[in-house]
This record gives sequence, C-alpha cells and structure tokens, in this order.
Amino acid sequence: MILERILDLDDFARAARAQLPRAVYGYVANGSETETTLRENRAAFSDWQLVTRVLAGVETRDQTIDLFGHIYASPFGIAPMGGSALVAYQGHLVMAHAAYQANIPFILSANSIIPLEEVLTCNPDAWFAAYQSPEDEAIRGMATRLTRAGGKTMVITADVPIGSNREGDARAGFGFPIRPDARLSFDVATHPRWTGSVLLRTLLRRGVPDIVNLEPWGGPGLFSRKVKSIAAHEGLRWAHVRLMRDLWRGTLIVKGILSAADAAAAREIGVDGIILSNHGGRQLDCAVAPIRVLPDVLAQAGGMVVMVDSGFRRGTDIVKALARGAHAVFVGRPFLYAAACAGTRGVSHAITLLAKELDRDMAMLGVRNINEITSEILRRA
Ligand SMILES: Cc1cc2nc3c(=O)[nH]c(=O)nc-3n(C[C@H](O)[C@H](O)[C@H](O)COP(=O)(O)O)c2cc1C
Repeated sequence: MILERILDLDDFARAARAQLPRAVYGYVANGSETETTLRENRAAFSDWQLVTRVLAGVETRDQTIDLFGHIYASPFGIAPMGGSALVAYQGHLVMAHAAYQANIPFILSANSIIPLEEVLTCNPDAWFAAYQSPEDEAIRGMATRLTRAGGKTMVITADVPIGSNREGDARAGFGFPIRPDARLSFDVATHPRWTGSVLLRTLLRRGVPDIVNLEPWGGPGLFSRKVKSIAAHEGLRWAHVRLMRDLWRGTLIVKGILSAADAAAAREIGVDGIILSNHGGRQLDCAVAPIRVLPDVLAQAGGMVVMVDSGFRRGTDIVKALARGAHAVFVGRPFLYAAACAGTRGVSHAITLLAKELDRDMAMLGVRNINEITSEILRRA
C-alpha cells in the first residue's frame, strides 16, 4: 500500500473496503438498524463553526495533554474494538504498538484473541476495556488479572446490556459465532489476499483462537456457540462498578455514557473518568451524538475526566469537542482500517495525519496549546 496516497482517515476506509471481504468490512463499518446514529455522529459536528483569532504568534504549538498523570502526545487515542484480529493480522498488537510509538492512548477490547498480558508487554500504557461479567468472582478475577499483568487503566464498557441489531451484518452472513454459509464462503474465497494474510496466518500462529480476555480465566473459542452472548451482560449494574472500584486500585473508567444522571452515578462511585459514546452508532439506533450532551454531562462530572468518541474523523472534530469541554477524544474504525491496509505503518500514518490536522487547525485558530481551545472559538451554525 502506498501510504502517500492516503491523505485523510476516510481514505483508509475506502482502501480497506477494496481489500476486505464484504462481510468483514461491514462488521466494522455497519451501524445498527436504520444507521441514523451512525450518520448523526458525523452530522452533529456541523452544528458548530469555528471562529479564528489571527496574528497570535503561533510558531510553537503543543497538543500534548495530561490524562491521569500521563503526558500524551495528542488529545486523541484508539478506541477499543473487538474482533480486530478478523480485520487485520494481529490487529490489536498492531494498534497497541503504533499507539505506544506515538505516545497516544490505546484501549484493548476484551473481545480479543491476543492475551492482554502480551498486549501490555508490547504497550505497557495500554488501557483494558472489560466486557465485565456481573459476578463478584469475575470482577475480583479481572481486577487481579489486570493488576498482575501491570495494567494501570480499567475501562468498563457499559452500553452493551444486549447485542444490537446490525442488519447489514446479518445480510452478509456475518455473526458470532462465525458460521460460514454459502454467501460468506464465497465472500472469503473471492478475497484470497485477506484469506491468506489474515485468516490463515492467524490460524497458523494461534490455532483456532479463543477470546482470551473476556473473563479472568480466558474465554470461548471464536467458533464456539458460547460466543453468541460474549459481550452482553443484561445483569450488569452500578453495584458491580462499585465493587470494581473497591477492588481495583488503578484508574477506573466507564465507557458508553450519554446521560447526565449516569455521569452523576459514576462520580458518586468514585470513577476516575468516563467516555461519552454511542458505540459508534453500533448499539441503540437513534441514540444521541455524544458531542451534543457534553455540557449536561460536564455539569455532573465533578472531578472526573470526561472523554468522548463516536464519529471523530478530523482535527476540527477534535477541536470542537475540546472546545465544548471534553478532555480527550477517541477514534475507532479508521485505525482498524489503517491496520488492515498497512499494519503498524498504516496506523502510524493515520495517527500522524490526525495529529498534523490538529496542529494546522490550532495554528489557524490562533491557539498554541490545548488549554487555549475554549468555547470562545465556537459559534452555533
Ligand atoms: C469493529 C468494532 C468493534 C468494537 N468493539 C468494541 C468493544 O469491544 N468494546 C467497546 O467498548 N467498544 C467497541 N466498539 C466501539 C468503539 O470503542 C467506539 O466507541 C466507536 O468505534 C467510536 O466510533 P467511531 O468508530 O465512529 O470512531 C467497537 C467498534 C467497532 C467499529
């Protein structure tokens, strides 16, 4: 892949679409049901325009941020994405490595086949996003496992009480557990490059993989029936977050919050940070775009770090979220497409593109550091 031709994050989506089986690309790209939220995540950014300040002397610009005592190079990171190994060879390791090199946050999803211990060896700063089972033993076990592995940051994904309805996946014959029907088999057979470089290579290296980070003791095989309900926990409650808070001494984050009331609940428990998210339009269709609810949530956040994801593709998107009070932003799909297209090199290129966009935006806005990005630069469209 000639990376010089990739000029923005959406170029990675187009390149990945051309090389991945339809079902695999769709697994990443699809939103749920009518995909209203998927579209809304992009559309919401148009509600604000930027007001520049000129002649500000912007020859030195600094986009570093302090998150939980770590100085990161940029105010954006890589969101947790399950199933990455199906999309890119060693997808999670590839993204973890590129994020570590660039010194940006990386969150490993529990829905992964590379042991979190191996990922933390490659990237000691990686955060871990649990699809936490609501049993005390599982909560205790996960806190212990992550502590032993040297993990410092535990994220609990809260917006998957139940699997969502992504009809695009079903139409392409894709679902968990993977059960290749005629459609899917044809799709795979007509994409020999992916079959060889991702599927066969993974099977050769790891055998038929287990989803090893789901539970403290491991997880079901990728093709097992038990995979059906892997991530969804209808019985997960704030009481379980409270127990995790009691047991886990590191940084604790809840991901998937959209309401001020839930932000207040997290704050009362002593959670360190929250990630506002509608899961990239993959869970409840018609859910609000997180950037819209930022002020309401911030009013209830107290001292918590408030981060946001869903639909961020441009430096200006990041600027708008920071100006509305977010402390950091996460980006999902583009980094996985970049891993699929060109491995670590691809992800590094994607990080560089976004960091350069933000740097240029800061210069033209007349701001020299992240603290100078305030609501004064925003005007309602
Ligand atoms: C393929 C894929 C898998 C995902 N898996 C997870 C997951 O395992 N855990 C989680 O908390 N979020 C998961 N998400 C949601 C992302 O963390 C993030 O919220 C979302 O992708 C952000 O939207 P964006 O892709 O538009 O940037 C997944 C998203 C995608 C695209």
